[in-house]
Amino acid sequence: MMKVDVILGLQWGDEGKGKIVDVFTPRYDVIARFQGGPNAGHTIKFEGKKFILHTIPSGIFHPEKENIIGSGVIIDPYILFKEIATLHEARLKPERNLLISRRAHLILPSHRLLDAAYEEAKGDARIGSTLKGIGPAYTDKYARNGIRVGNILEPDFNSNYIALKNSHLALIHHYQFDYTDYLIDGLPFDEYEEAWLDAVERLKEYTLIDSEYYLNQCIDDRKSVLAEGAQGTLLDVDFGSYPYVTSSNTITAAACSGLGISPHRIGTVYGIFKAYCTRVGGGPFPTELDNAIGDQLRESGQEFGSTTGRPRRCGWLDIPALNYAIMLNGVNKLIMMKVDVLNHLETIQVCTEYMIDGTKTDRLPFDLGDKSITPVYNRLHGWNSIVDESKGFEEIPSNLKDYIVCIEKVTGLPIEMISSGPDRTQTLFR
Ligand code: GDP
Ligand code: IMO
Ligand code: MG
Repeated sequence: MMKVDVILGLQWGDEGKGKIVDVFTPRYDVIARFQGGPNAGHTIKFEGKKFILHTIPSGIFHPEKENIIGSGVIIDPYILFKEIATLHEARLKPERNLLISRRAHLILPSHRLLDAAYEEAKGDARIGSTLKGIGPAYTDKYARNGIRVGNILEPDFNSNYIALKNSHLALIHHYQFDYTDYLIDGLPFDEYEEAWLDAVERLKEYTLIDSEYYLNQCIDDRKSVLAEGAQGTLLDVDFGSYPYVTSSNTITAAACSGLGISPHRIGTVYGIFKAYCTRVGGGPFPTELDNAIGDQLRESGQEFGSTTGRPRRCGWLDIPALNYAIMLNGVNKLIMMKVDVLNHLETIQVCTEYMIDGTKTDRLPFDLGDKSITPVYNRLHGWNSIVDESKGFEEIPSNLKDYIVCIEKVTGLPIEMISSGPDRTQTLFR
């Protein structure tokens, strides 16, 4: 039986999922996003060009491959069509190979106002949301108030839209959030809403599908499917560093619920992680380097958010967190990203355990923000040289080999591939 392979992030997002999905796409027939929404920013670089995708699967640059936005994803049509415009500029024709689930929920302009209102109300405890309306849109989905892509074709869409918007505006009023000067992607609310409604009209011309039937049929027809995750395991609403998380499940299980495929049909799970750690937004980060080394990682890794441009917080690789993510996802193979960012370090540290209240543990505590967590580090020699991908995996610097062996030993999994730069070609397969 053909199985669905999964690529997902093992840290706090931005591991490089977009790049790897693009690199893997030639091996598959269908690429499907299963959760999250435009809070994601997946970067793909090739032939001197750079694209950042928010909603569209990262297989879209291969016109002969089908790309599906699954039912677990939430869609802002305005953002979707901005992405489509950048693809059109590059002479791609996503209308030919992009399919969208009718069951995917819509993010309304007023969800974005609500996101801002909730964040403002949280004050210092704010999540650092991307303000794309993710929390409020998933809230409406689970509260059974949501509007789905399939609903845009129905005669009562407009009245349902207005009713839901008005309920949001009442809440916004309750939160005393004054949005008169608040800009959504540079536009005042009314203008954003107008552009959003135009995008809804354009969405009607796309191929809207029952993605659960479609994908299961693909599998029956022996087509190969790659499921693309968004965010990362430590942002999972159930198992991440709650409440500093996103509002969806980001783990392998979400590929089943977000695409409508059974767990029996999951094949290889590829876990992606950076050779160090980053986090954007608020919340605990035990191995964070609030110092010159952290600044150096940010500079050489160009660690600025793909969606918001915010500087990302940087720190050392955290093995207890990595092993937790491997456990939750049933990872079979690891892919290590951004090894080039560590090229010029004399020493590299890896957190192998946490010291909590005088006791060593390799488990993540209930509250990762517990002030008494001190990471226990293992020090390794840096390779202090450039990784030359043209020479292949066997020729990488020996200290980098040691780093890989060290990670393989503590995780018990093989590192199948390493990435040494943002371009498609900067990839070393073992
Ligand atoms: P995603 O959200 O997981 O797809 O990751 P992002 O695209 O948000 O962030 C990854 C960033 O690192 C992007 O700017 C990529 O172009 C870049 N990148 C990916 N792989 C590498 C790598 O191996 N080395 C370097 N230096 N940059 C990389
Ligand atoms: P990709 O797919 C990194 C973070 C936000 C914030 C928290 C909640 O590119 O890896 P939300 O907008 O969901 O309400 O934000 O989650 N966050 C991400 N961080 N990469 C992402 O996606 C993220 N999506 C959300 O910064 O801390
Ligand atoms: Mg990203």
